Amino acid sequence: MSRQILIAGNWKMNKGAAEGAQLIKDLKAQFGECPCCSCGQKPEVLVCPPFTTLSAVIAETAGSCLEVGAQNVHWAEKGAYTGEISAAMLKETGVTYVIIGHSERRQYFGETDATVNQRLLAALKAGLKVIVCVGETLKEREEGVTIAVIERQVRGALANVDATAMKDVVIAYEPVWAIGTGKVATEAQAQEVHQCIRALLKKLYECPCVADNTRILYGGSMNAANAAGLLAQPDIDGGLIGGAALKPADFATIIKAAFAQMNA
Ligand code: 13P
Repeated sequence: MSRQILIAGNWKMNKGAAEGAQLIKDLKAQFGECPCCSCGQKPEVLVCPPFTTLSAVIAETAGSCLEVGAQNVHWAEKGAYTGEISAAMLKETGVTYVIIGHSERRQYFGETDATVNQRLLAALKAGLKVIVCVGETLKEREEGVTIAVIERQVRGALANVDATAMKDVVIAYEPVWAIGTGKVATEAQAQEVHQCIRALLKKLYECPCVADNTRILYGGSMNAANAAGLLAQPDIDGGLIGGAALKPADFATIIKAAFAQMNA
C-alpha cells in the first residue's frame, strides 16, 4: 500500500497554551526524541489544538516531525465575521492542516454540506491541507441510510474540487455514534464505509489515482487497544483521534501501531 498512514489528534476544546506545550513535551518523551527517529516507513503525525494554543504547540513541535493543524476555518478572506478565522490567518501561524466539517460543528454550529464545501475550497486555495469529516448518526445507521448519508456528505464537501487539488484532501469517516462514546465501529463496519467512499471517489474522478491516493481516516473512539486492528483494514489509512490524543502514552501507542502497520 503506497498511502502514508496519517495519525491525527483532534484536541477539540481542550488544553490551553501551557498545557498544550506540555502535552507535546510528554508525547515527544514517549519516543526519546520524536516519532520520526524510529527506523523504517513513517506515518505522518498531526496534532490539532484549539486556535489559541496553536502558536505554543507550533513552537514546541519545531524541529520534530510533528505537524500542527487547526480545527476549523472560515471561507471568507476577511471581513465582518465576528469570532471566525480565515485560511490566510491560519497559514500565517504555521499550521499545515485544518479539520473541516467535524460532526460537532455540524451538530452544534449549523455546519452544512454547503458551508463545509466553502470552507474546504478556501482552505485549499490558501495552501492548507484539509481533513474533511463525514459520518452518520445512530438514527441514520439504524434506518439503513448510512451509505446514502456518507455519499451525500462526500459529494457535497468535494463539489468543485478538482483531481489535482485532491492531493491535499484527506477524508475522515467518523460515525457520530462512535465519537466520545467508547462505542467503536467494528473493523468490518469501518472498512465497509471506507471502501464505499473509495468507490465513490472512483466515480467522481476520472483518474483512478484520486481514489488510490486519497487517505481515508477512521475516527470515533479509536484508542490504544483497537488502533492496530482498524489500521490493518485495507481502506483505513489512519485515524482522527479525540480522547486518546490527550493521553501521551495512548497516542504514542497508536502512532507505534501505525509504524508497525506501515512496516508489516
Ligand atoms: P473520540 O476519539 O474521543 O471518540 O473523538 C473522535 C473525534 O471526534 C475526532 O475528531
